[in-house]
Formats: sequence, C-alpha cells, structure tokens
Amino acid sequence: MVFWTLLWIIFSPMSSPLRTSMAGNQITSFIFISFVLGQALSADYIYSAVMPQTVTALTGSCVQIPCTFNISNFEDKREMAESIYVIWLKNQSHYDSTESFIAFNSSENIIRGFSDIKMTRDLNERNCTTVFYNITMNHSDRYYFRLEMEPDVFRPTFNPNTANSSDSSKTVKIIVRDSPQPPELKLSKPQYVMEESTVNLSCSAEAPCPTQPPTISWSNQHESARITTQLQEKPDKTQSVFSYMTFKASYKDHRKNISCTATYPRNTPNDSTVEGNVTLQVLFPPKETHIIITPSVGTNVTLTCKSKASPSNDMN
Ligand SMILES: *[C@@H]1O[C@H](CO)[C@@H](O)[C@H](O)[C@H]1NC(C)=O
Ligand SMILES: *[C@@H]1O[C@H](CO)[C@@H](O)[C@H](O)[C@H]1NC(C)=O
Ligand SMILES: *[C@@H]1O[C@H](CO)[C@@H](O)[C@H](O)[C@H]1NC(C)=O
Ligand SMILES: *[C@@H]1O[C@H](CO)[C@@H](O)[C@H](O)[C@H]1NC(C)=O
Ligand SMILES: *[C@@H]1O[C@H](CO)[C@@H](O)[C@H](O)[C@H]1NC(C)=O
Repeated sequence: MVFWTLLWIIFSPMSSPLRTSMAGNQITSFIFISFVLGQALSADYIYSAVMPQTVTALTGSCVQIPCTFNISNFEDKREMAESIYVIWLKNQSHYDSTESFIAFNSSENIIRGFSDIKMTRDLNERNCTTVFYNITMNHSDRYYFRLEMEPDVFRPTFNPNTANSSDSSKTVKIIVRDSPQPPELKLSKPQYVMEESTVNLSCSAEAPCPTQPPTISWSNQHESARITTQLQEKPDKTQSVFSYMTFKASYKDHRKNISCTATYPRNTPNDSTVEGNVTLQVLFPPKETHIIITPSVGTNVTLTCKSKASPSNDMN
C-alpha cells in the first residue's frame, strides 16, 4: 500500500486538471496507474515464435521444423537465468507436469517416442529449428514449443491461445505420409512454345529432411539441355529441391513427354520414387515435306504431299 501511495504522489500532478471532486478522482487515477503498471509488466513478458503451421514429413526420413522465437528483454532474462532449455510438447498446448507428453527436453537430451531429436542452433540465436528423426505414422500430431529459463525466470509455452498472442503459427502440425508427394513440373510458358524459342522447365520436390534431400533426374531430355539443381527455402522456411532445365525447342520435341523423377532416401522398403510429367506443344511451320509419286498403269500418276506442322496443316 505504501508503494501505491508513493506512486499516487508522484503521478498526481499529471492528473491535476481532473482534480475537482477529490475522492472520486483519487480512485480514477489509482485505477489508471495500476492499469499502466499492469501493461508495463506484461510488456516484459511478450513472446512470439515463427514456425510453419504444417509440415509434411515422410516415414523413414527426418523432418526439420524451421523455428525462431522472440522474447521481450531476452538478453536480460538470459543473464538472470542459470539454465535455459527447450521442451517440445506433443498434442497438448498447456504444460502440465503430470499429464504432458514431453517429446523432447533439451536440458539432458531426454527424448520420448522418437529415436532422435536435435536442435540445429544455439538458443542464444533465438533459433529453435529442430529436427525429428526416423518418422513413423504415429508421429502425426500438433507440437508445442516451450522455453524454460530457470530458476523461475520465464517459462512460456508458445501457444496460439494465449492472451498476448498475435499470430496462429506458434505451433506446428506434423503431417506424416507413407509415400512422397509427386514433384511439381512446370513449363515457364504454359501450353505452346514456338520453335527455336527457349523452353524453361522447373521441377520442385519437397525436402522436409534437408540433410537428406531427394535427388532429381529427368527423362527424355534434350541433347542441348542445361540443368541446374539446388535446395531452396520457401517463404514458410521449409525447403524444396528445385531443378531447372533449359533448352531450345525443336519441332521434333512436339508432343514429347518430359518427366522429372524425385527419389527420396529413406530407411524403409517403401516406394521412394515419384514422378511429374509434362507434354510439350511446339508450334512450327511445315517440315519434312515429301512428294510421293506413285506411278500406276496407264497415264495417271498419283502425287501425295506429306509434311509435319504444328498446328497440323490440311495437307497432312
Ligand atoms: C527437463 O529435464 C531436466 C533434467 O532432467 C529436469 O530437471 C526438468 O525438470 C525437465 N523439465 C521438465 C519440464 O520436465
Ligand atoms: C509408434 O509406433 C511404433 C510402432 O509402429 C511404436 O514402436 C512406438 O512406440 C509408437 N510411438 C508412440 C509415441 O506411440
Ligand atoms: C535457423 O537455423 C536454421 C538451421 O540451422 C537455418 O537454416 C536458418 O536460416 C536459421 N534461421 C535464422 C533466422 O537464422
Ligand atoms: C504422354 O503422356 C500422356 C499422359 O501423361 C500419355 O497419354 C501419352 O500417351 C504420352 N505420349 C507418349 C508419346 O508417350
Ligand atoms: C485416270 O483418272 C481419271 C480421272 O480420275 C479417270 O477418269 C481415268 O479412268 C483414270 N485412268 C486410269 C487409267 O486409271
């Protein structure tokens, strides 16, 4: 109470224009100051994390959860804390010492229900990127990240339902699939390409486990094709392998099927190869024109004109 009275004395000159009926305003200001202080206190406990809302994992492989977090006055809290470690909770958004399923406690590397879990960075970088290994179907679930700054400094569970949360991506849902998703094969210019123009094809395959990305191969590839392949980060920070193929279109490529194949390294006997297809449509003037003379008995001669063109011509 002494504390509040002291604050009242400090702040009261500020509210002097309101000081007409003394008793009422004293209470108003008191409430006002308490409110301001309350805000200041909670501002010290603002926290947020960024991670994808969902990641799709493949059984027999690993899955990386890209994750960064922010905590108000993190440096100060870190200095106060004797230890700082993380916890990944499976399924439950609130930590409860008796009921929570703790999949990972980084303090002494305690792992439950998984063969291995690793953080990729130092927590001081506010990077909570975590890799879960040897994924099985029963790992499909929602996971919650919790930071423990001990003793008693700060212990937030990053949960979209908490009062001062501003986004819904503080939790990640791991969706486990038993077979990989087919790569996405795209033509930069859809539908038709002109003869002699450059064809750009891109093939992308998700790489949920960036340390063991899928390998990409092309079929029916043009002899002059140039191919570049690289691991690329998507806006949600998950990664994909992108392979780009470039070549000059020839009329011989018309109606050619091109496919890219992604092969995932995994420690199960399941199918690991998936394919994406595209059929080329090349526009070109008549080619390979042949006049076939078919002599026949008597005086009549049959002339046949054959050629290739796209769109096909009347003489065909
Ligand atoms: C995490 O592990 C440490 C070391 O075993 C233990 O002291 C701590 O209580 C654990 N934290 C939780 C929340 O279970
Ligand atoms: C998941 O299933 C495997 C067998 O398919 C079992 O060995 C493991 O204990 C299960 N894990 C959990 C967390 O239920
Ligand atoms: C966090 O760590 C991951 C994996 O080590 C890295 O790819 C990512 O760029 C880091 N994020 C930031 C914001 O530094
Ligand atoms: C190209 O693929 C399509 C379907 O993807 C198929 O119907 C067609 O027969 C294929 N053409 C050739 C020449 O293989
Ligand atoms: C030659 O063609 C004409 C016109 O089609 C036909 O009337 C005639 O019978 C043909 N002659 C022979 C020898 O096939």
